[in-house]
Amino acid sequence: MSQTPPRPLDPEAKPDDRLDQSLRPQRLADLIGQDQVKENLAILIAAARQRKEALDHVLFYGPPGLGKTTLAHVVANEMGVNIKVTSGPAIERAGDLAAILTNLRAGDVLFIDEVHRLGRAVEEVLYPAMEDFALDIVIGKGPSARSIRLKLPRFTIVGATTRLALVTAPLRARFGAVYRLGYYDLKAMQSIVRRAASMLNVTADEDGVAEIARRARGTPRVALRLLRRVRDYAQVRGDGTICQDIACEALDLLQVDPLGLDDVDRRVLKTIIEKYNGGPVGLNTIAASISEEADTIMDVVEPYLLQLGFLDRTPQGRVATRLAYEHLGIAYNEESQPRLI
Ligand SMILES: Nc1ncnc2c1ncn2[C@@H]1O[C@H](COP(=O)(O)OP(=O)(O)OP(=O)(O)O)[C@@H](O)[C@H]1O
Ligand SMILES: [Mg+2]
Repeated sequence: MSQTPPRPLDPEAKPDDRLDQSLRPQRLADLIGQDQVKENLAILIAAARQRKEALDHVLFYGPPGLGKTTLAHVVANEMGVNIKVTSGPAIERAGDLAAILTNLRAGDVLFIDEVHRLGRAVEEVLYPAMEDFALDIVIGKGPSARSIRLKLPRFTIVGATTRLALVTAPLRARFGAVYRLGYYDLKAMQSIVRRAASMLNVTADEDGVAEIARRARGTPRVALRLLRRVRDYAQVRGDGTICQDIACEALDLLQVDPLGLDDVDRRVLKTIIEKYNGGPVGLNTIAASISEEADTIMDVVEPYLLQLGFLDRTPQGRVATRLAYEHLGIAYNEESQPRLI
């Protein structure tokens, strides 16, 4: 397959975002980790290319920063087609979507980020567009109104969401392939940090790389952010080289603990444990107690705490587990724990 040039950087983006964009893998082969998703995608893409058809609609879901947007671009690159990028909240009216759809060429990818935030009227235009590649347009008003059907070229919708549960059932059913992105394992995280360090021209030894990878909560975006901050620290306080000591000092200063929990994660756990005796306590109560957005807690904090086994979600609310007490060094008293039904 031919190599596509890296896409131009968005001039509006902040320096750190631009760095992220330039580090974004362009092809499936450059993507580290997510082996199952990669393998399934490779088959989907190869089959569509052999048949010279547009790719089936694809939905990626999973916590922020795991590579949904990256994968959408990779899909378009591998198919050798154009990608148009939009998002659920950006498409306000059905007419906006109609305008986007009628401008697509055969095979093009339309990437809709935050696809769970599409409005109802917009979704209704999307259903026949995805299924029959047709746009139903009503002309005129009152008794003389009639509907005409416009044919659209065969295109591909790539959707991304952090909240699969909020994607309506009819919309979800129209995606031919649905892939979940999970947290990356340590080995993959190390490769991601190593690759980014070399692209940024930072010298980092294996222990330094491992330390950053360990504390990046299985999330490439976090790994890249921590690497940039450790690089700053190494430059100002050291000789510019990232070794384990430098990485530990920098990350401790940033209050990122050895498991990758940051200040917000710890405040969530401490609130449940100290204010609500370990739970159960509702999400909104926790959010109000620590003055954070409930959405941030649900999207960013909870999935990782659940994965570590520090948190349970019960019908009555969130409960901190014994592991969470142990990690925070708080005594766990079995007797005083609430009985859960
Ligand atoms: N598999 C990977 N290998 C290397 N780098 C990766 C990988 N996945 C993601 N990245 C890097 O992590 C950053 C975040 O990825 P991306 O923006 O695709 O996440 P996202 O899932 O779309 O997040 P959000 O839900 O917040 O939109 C990217 O800048 C990219 O450079
Ligand atoms: Mg994204």
